[in-house]
Amino acid sequence: MNKKRVLSGTRATGKLHLGNYLGAVKGYIALSEDPEYETFYMVADLHSVNTPYYPKDFPKKVRSVVLDYLGAGLDPEKCTIFIQSHVPQHIQLFYLLSTQVSVARMQHLPTYKEKVKQYPKDVNMALLNYPVLMASDILIYKADAVPVGVDQLPHLEVAREVARKMNEKYGTDFPEPEQFKTDGEYVPSLTGEGKMSKSVEGSYITLVDSLETIKSRLASTPTDSGKGDIKEGLFFSQESMKEASVPEDLVPSNGVGSLMKFVELFQGKEKRKEYESQYEGEGVRYGDLKNELSEAIYKHLEPIQERRKKFEDDPKLVEEILQGGAQKARKVAEKTVTEVKAAMGLI
Ligand code: TRP
Repeated sequence: MNKKRVLSGTRATGKLHLGNYLGAVKGYIALSEDPEYETFYMVADLHSVNTPYYPKDFPKKVRSVVLDYLGAGLDPEKCTIFIQSHVPQHIQLFYLLSTQVSVARMQHLPTYKEKVKQYPKDVNMALLNYPVLMASDILIYKADAVPVGVDQLPHLEVAREVARKMNEKYGTDFPEPEQFKTDGEYVPSLTGEGKMSKSVEGSYITLVDSLETIKSRLASTPTDSGKGDIKEGLFFSQESMKEASVPEDLVPSNGVGSLMKFVELFQGKEKRKEYESQYEGEGVRYGDLKNELSEAIYKHLEPIQERRKKFEDDPKLVEEILQGGAQKARKVAEKTVTEVKAAMGLI
């Protein structure tokens, strides 16, 4: 049976947080355990150097993502884990694919425009080329499915276009990769506004946070008086939102809403209902709620942290995993580059 291929990656910009874990990495794990798929997961280090960064800190950041992957439960026996720059073929293919992409198309991507706004003094070619390198990451493994969030869809569309153009022009056989929607949770920000994000301080809980840290992070989540009418107050109920068919990511954000979502994720829907009826009755005591919730989150993270620590204490093993992963990835990648070069008439 021909297995479907999966590729995904994470930029090395810091520790993974609960949003990355629930929204992406849990999906990576599920796919790696499904015999229908052959899975490749990388740390996108090359994608992390196109915005300002500190070279001295960088190796630690890259390793930290690897440890987060392993700690979260990605099993190197079941998936190929590697670092993007260890497979230099990605850059070779990237250049060849870039012949099919117009400069204007890249300049109009929303992600590019955002970065230009964020770093007006650092608008470099690598930033403009970001989506083409990402297309290469995906197409080099002829991946059919790419587990990524909606924010990456414009990039995926570029990869699909490039695949189509290459196939038409040079007769290659790239599949048009599709987003793989894991039933990843929408994880809200602790600030109560939007989703959990590495770039918003105070919005996240990392996979390595201690119980104390989790408590102090939750302490800053804004709350209300704890009492009132659910349907009118900030404490909107899950049911009322569903009744109104409000998509999850459009549910109005506020701190209490975020807390409720976390209660649901880590303590279950029943617990949330309990709080909802308290809200309409005797009132919710947020201090107690936050304490219990912190414990529940920490309980979830503890085994991840223990596993992560084991790998952290065994750098030789991690090195072996990465070398093995890169070797496996290079074999597939090299084959694709050879095919594409031949198809493009390079001798
Ligand atoms: N651009 C992705 C992000 O910012 C990371 C990434 C790089 C990626 N190459 C990839 C994701 C290939 C999926 C497939 O999250």
